[in-house]
Amino acid sequence: MEVMNNFPHVRLRRLRQNEKIRSLVRETHLRVDQLIYPMFIAEGAQEPQEIASMPGIMQWPLDQVTQEARRIADLGIPAVLLFGIPNEKDAVGSQAYAEHGVIQEAIRRLKAELPELLIITDVCLCEYTDHGHCGVIHNGTVQNDESLNLLAQMALSHVEAGADIVAPSDMMDGRVGVLRQTLDEHGFNQTPIMAYSIKYASGFYGPFREAAGSTPQFGDRRAYQMDPANVREALRELEQDISEGADMVMVKPALSYLDVIRQVRDHCDLPVVAYNVSGEYSMVKAAAQNGWIDEQRIVMEILTSIRRAGADMIITYFAPEVAQWLNS
Ligand code: PBG
Ligand code: ZN
Repeated sequence: MEVMNNFPHVRLRRLRQNEKIRSLVRETHLRVDQLIYPMFIAEGAQEPQEIASMPGIMQWPLDQVTQEARRIADLGIPAVLLFGIPNEKDAVGSQAYAEHGVIQEAIRRLKAELPELLIITDVCLCEYTDHGHCGVIHNGTVQNDESLNLLAQMALSHVEAGADIVAPSDMMDGRVGVLRQTLDEHGFNQTPIMAYSIKYASGFYGPFREAAGSTPQFGDRRAYQMDPANVREALRELEQDISEGADMVMVKPALSYLDVIRQVRDHCDLPVVAYNVSGEYSMVKAAAQNGWIDEQRIVMEILTSIRRAGADMIITYFAPEVAQWLNS
């Protein structure tokens, strides 16, 4: 029974025996230049204000945005995603597209001081409306077509202030097309649109809504964001945004939707972005603060899994910590 003496013939552990070999055969890599860092900028703030449910994440006053962004750029992180918290909200989110709104001002400061850092802006009305919904409301429902004009004005005002990429997150039908047309008509045909194409109505946005002050005052977002149970519909959202001219497509949240990221990756050739959202961050932070998990190990494992699922880029609140780990 010589064959039996050699059993097993196939030994997968041969390629796991030391770090040099493991590194040679590693299939997925996480690099600093694949990370995007979200930042909250509060018009009324004098001091950085930590978000209670997101340890380490601040609402920044306009005066300190550049300082914090310089730290991010120095870590090698190529891009930030900006969210604004205005002083004044109204039914149509006027401050979202005001020439001197909080985000427009933040963009101007950042571009003046750190021209190299890519500025991506979230384009959505919910932080700016007094009712907290992502569009204009009539008869208790969010109006699709009427909201599109305002979203287009918002995107244009960001780009005029110097934004490099706009990221519509409202989930209205037709927004990518309207944004593309508006930007093109104003001479910005080189500005990419990073579309939040597949955005689920998710409980994982809870801490963000505290951070951005954007909780809906009545109802929820299920009439415009996607049902977590659906994936065929995700591919329809994808096709809609591609046909309207999206340059990059996003799946959000990431962790409960790794299968969706994989399907999107297999379905199209556009760059795929995954948003590792606030609730995903808070859960890890809370467990780590209790000493229940090894934070660095878990974060690296999570982000690697998002890459393995098929994401090219990851928007994550962990970006600065990960950059430090990767750089050291
Ligand atoms: C705004 C927006 C939200 C997030 C990004 N853009 C919240 C929402 O749709 O309620 C969530 C980000 C996060 O949870 O980290 N539409
Ligand atoms: Zn919104």
